[in-house]
This record gives sequence, C-alpha cells and structure tokens, in this order.
Amino acid sequence: MTETALRPPASEAESGREVGTEVVVVVDYGGQYSQLIARRIRECGVFSELLPHHVPLAEIAKRKPAGVVLSGGPASVYAPGAPRLERELLELGVPVLGICYGMQLLVHELGGRVEQAEVGEFGRSDLTVLAPGSLLAGLPAEQTCWMSHRDTVFEPPPGFTALASSTVSPVAAVEDAQRRIYGIQFHPEVVHTPYGQEILTRFLADICGCERTWSAASIVEEQIARIRRQVGEGRAICGLSGGVDSSVAALLVHRAIGDRLTCVFVDHGLMRKQEGEQVVATFRDTFKVPLVAVDAEQRFLARLAGVTEPEAKRKAIGAEFIRVFEEEARRLAPDGDGARYLVQGTLYSDVIESGGGPGASTIKSHHNVGGLPEDLDFELVEPLRALFKDEVRAVGTELGLPDRLVWRQPFPGPGLAIRVIGAEATRERLDVLREADHILQEEIRAAGLYRELWQSFCVLPNIRTVGVQGDERTYGNVVAIRAVTSDDAMTADWARLPYDLLEKIASRMMGELREVNRVVLDITSKPPGTIEWE
Ligand code: XMP
Repeated sequence: MTETALRPPASEAESGREVGTEVVVVVDYGGQYSQLIARRIRECGVFSELLPHHVPLAEIAKRKPAGVVLSGGPASVYAPGAPRLERELLELGVPVLGICYGMQLLVHELGGRVEQAEVGEFGRSDLTVLAPGSLLAGLPAEQTCWMSHRDTVFEPPPGFTALASSTVSPVAAVEDAQRRIYGIQFHPEVVHTPYGQEILTRFLADICGCERTWSAASIVEEQIARIRRQVGEGRAICGLSGGVDSSVAALLVHRAIGDRLTCVFVDHGLMRKQEGEQVVATFRDTFKVPLVAVDAEQRFLARLAGVTEPEAKRKAIGAEFIRVFEEEARRLAPDGDGARYLVQGTLYSDVIESGGGPGASTIKSHHNVGGLPEDLDFELVEPLRALFKDEVRAVGTELGLPDRLVWRQPFPGPGLAIRVIGAEATRERLDVLREADHILQEEIRAAGLYRELWQSFCVLPNIRTVGVQGDERTYGNVVAIRAVTSDDAMTADWARLPYDLLEKIASRMMGELREVNRVVLDITSKPPGTIEWE
C-alpha cells in the first residue's frame, strides 16, 4: 500500500500523547541503550519520546518537555563529525541529564576536560559518592554501576560539582544545580546499576518536577479520547492476527467507537492448534466485537501446492492474505457509510526503527496488512504508535485481555508453513506439526516456562528415519524442538530446557503421534543460526 492511500492521522501526528501530558525527550546519540532509557523513563510514570540527535532544536522545543536526556553513543567527542550539542538546548530552561556520551558532550561543550583514558571502563564498576547533590542524595556512598566508555571526564566544567568517581573515572557524575544540568558517566537504565531507576526517578520527580501519571490506565483513557476525535462517527476495520499488538489495538478502538469497528480475522489454516477458535471466542463472544472470521484454509493450501522454497511460500501466503483481506475490506470499504479507517498495531519501536520519526507512517509487512490497493482509501488509526511492547501488554491486561493473548509468544505471519522444511506445506504435514507443537506448548506451559521463552515451537523437516515401535519397524517423521530466549529476536540463545521436561515432550510426541518416531533438539544460537529454520 502506498503512503498516499494510508495516511497517518492528520491531527497529533507528531506525537502519541495528549496535549497536557508531561513529556521528557531523550535525544538519541546512537547508543545501544537509547530505547531502554526511554522505556525506563516511562516505567517511572513519565511519557518519553526518543528523537534522533540531528532533529532541529525546534522539534524538541515544540514538545514543551519537562526535561531532556542526552543518551550515550559510540563516538568520541574528539572524533571528526562526532554529534554535537546545540548550545541553545541548554537555554530552553528545562533540566538536562547527559548519560555517558551525553555527559561527555556536556562537559566538553561547557569547558570541562574530557580525555581518552589509558584504559576504558566496560562492565561493572564501583561508584564512590563524593558530594551527593540532588541526583545522588540519600543513596549509598558506595554502589555498583555499569560503565561502557573509553573517553573519560577528568575535570567538570566551571560551575559544576563533581558528585562521584568510579574505579577508572575521576569524575563519574556532575551537576550544576543552578542551571539544572546533570551528567552521569554510568548507565542508570541497565539492571546492573542497582540504583539506576532511583536516580532516573530523582531526575524526573525532584529535578524536572514531573507528576508521573503515565500508566496503563492513563494510556487507555488518552487513546480512547484520541481515537474518538480521529474517527468521529466513522467506521473502522482491523485485521486481527491473534497476536498481542493487533488484539490490543482492536480492543482500544472498540472501547472508543464500539460496534462501528469490525475486525477481520483471516484463518489461513497455518495457525497453531485451537488458536483461530480462541481468537474468535475472545473477540466475538467475550468482548462482543463485531468480527468477520474468514475460513480461507483451502485457498491458502491451494496457493501453497507444489511450493517448497521458503521465500516462495512467504510470497504466496503474503499475496493471498492481501487478496482475502482486500475482499473483506472492499465489502466494508469507504463507499456510502463503509469503513474509512484501518486500524494497525504499529508500535513505537517500529516507528523508531523505520527512522521515519513520530510523524511518518509505517506500514508493516503483509501479515499486518500492507499492500492493499490504492483505491481502498483508508486512513490509518494507530493507537499503539507511541507504545513499547511492554506497555502494550500492560494496556492489554488493563483492558481485560486474557493472559494467553497478552503473553503470546511471537508467531510468524506465514505461520506453520515455514516450519514444514524442504517440502510443500500440505494439510497432512501441517497437522503432524500442529499436533507436535500443541504437545510442546502444553508441556512448556505446565512447566511454567512459557513466558521465560521468547519462542518455543516445533519444526518438521522433510526426512524420515527408521525406528522400532512395539514390534514394528517404522519409517516416520522427525520433529525438531526449537526453544530460545531473547530480548528482541535480533540475537537469541537456545533455551536450556530441563532434561526431564524434554523427555516427557519427546515421549508424548512419539506415543501420541503415529507419524513421529524421532524427536531432536536444536541447540543453535542466533547468530549464527536464525530462530526459524527457513
Ligand atoms: P529469524 O528466523 O530471522 O526470526 O531469527 C526473527 C523473528 O522473526 C520471526 N519471523 C517472521 N515473522 N513473518 C513474520 O511475521 C515471517 O516471514 C517471519 N520469519 C521470521 C521469527 O518467528 C522470530 O520471532
């Protein structure tokens, strides 16, 4: 779908917050923890926005922030082309906290001394408080913190007090209480800095004077008001996938506009066991959301006939999905009193990663309904556009969404088809995989491990092996178990599932599924492997 066909909401396109909500801007200097800083600020009850360091100062000023945080970053302040600090930022009259590179930038710009130390400081370090100031008041004089820097501050700028030193850094925290400018060399946002959240809270509450009212309940209230303003008396449609994002987006919109929302659930026959029924039961029966459930299994299987290459499967499924959704969308589309709004579960991390900034529209890949034709002129409603995943879950819980949906592990749009490896995804193969997967899920849930795992699933490679079951020689399928831990799917580690659990899973699969006579465990991490097999 082109950007002209799917317009971001015209009003408030700049930010997901309501007028009046306090906001703290995090200026991103490219550090690996920048998103985490923004999340931690929200955990303190303050809405935060992450903006790239090159945005004009006016963009920051117009948000009327209660405070500004400068993130860490990989550069040295002395490197040619290193990101700089706009001095006028310090004249906005709001408190500024520099973290790591952010602190070095402040110190360097304001006349202190930053130099490359002989040794860098990476990992745990001991922090010694010299003068607590307002940032470290009441905290232990000796504490652990997490460092990651080579350049080091040796002298604070004129007007600043050195608040702390660390194992390697003579000056690890500074403040100028008069101008309300603060710097810390360590990372308060990571769990390895035990008092980090406390320090952030002080900055936000004591120094910036934030009221800290951002919560799941306030998000629900704000988004409902916002959706009502955008949609007015109009009608909307939402593609439900069963995942937490589309579920929460749908529920928010339903709360806002009631039965003027219609959800469309395309059952492509590639879901896990009972998943489609659960989605329908939850939305239609429990939440009374008008729902069109399209049983499209035959269409998808027909499209997948003879297709064995993974990318060809993805393309076939994507194209068919759009076609089915389009048919439904046309029925509900902007003609007469048809739907004019399309609900999407775009998250804040998608917005950041697309580099588009909060004002630009992001259209995710096929399973989230990109690629509709231009003449279907929908305006996007994106109630999760300002939210991180953990906030989406909290909102889901606030709205009464069952834990099963709130905490559902990610599941790929093309579903089980890309877990039938090296073969056509036929109904028979999908059924074997679905049953094996069901046993795995049941046992993982029973062991209380479901939430700890990023994903757990089965894979069905196109090979048969010899076995003996009873007195019979068999020639059956191999099922591979894949379970990983991860924070974001960019990297993953294979999960060390208990042997007893693995044994139970394997024996259930071989006992209950006639077609399966061997179970293996995938012990590949990412990298070098990927999470999915194809
Ligand atoms: P990989 O296999 O690349 O997967 O390590 C990373 C994450 O992406 C999911 N994944 C997909 N999701 N459509 C999706 O919606 C796809 O085609 C697809 N392929 C992989 C995967 O499950 C994991 O969470």
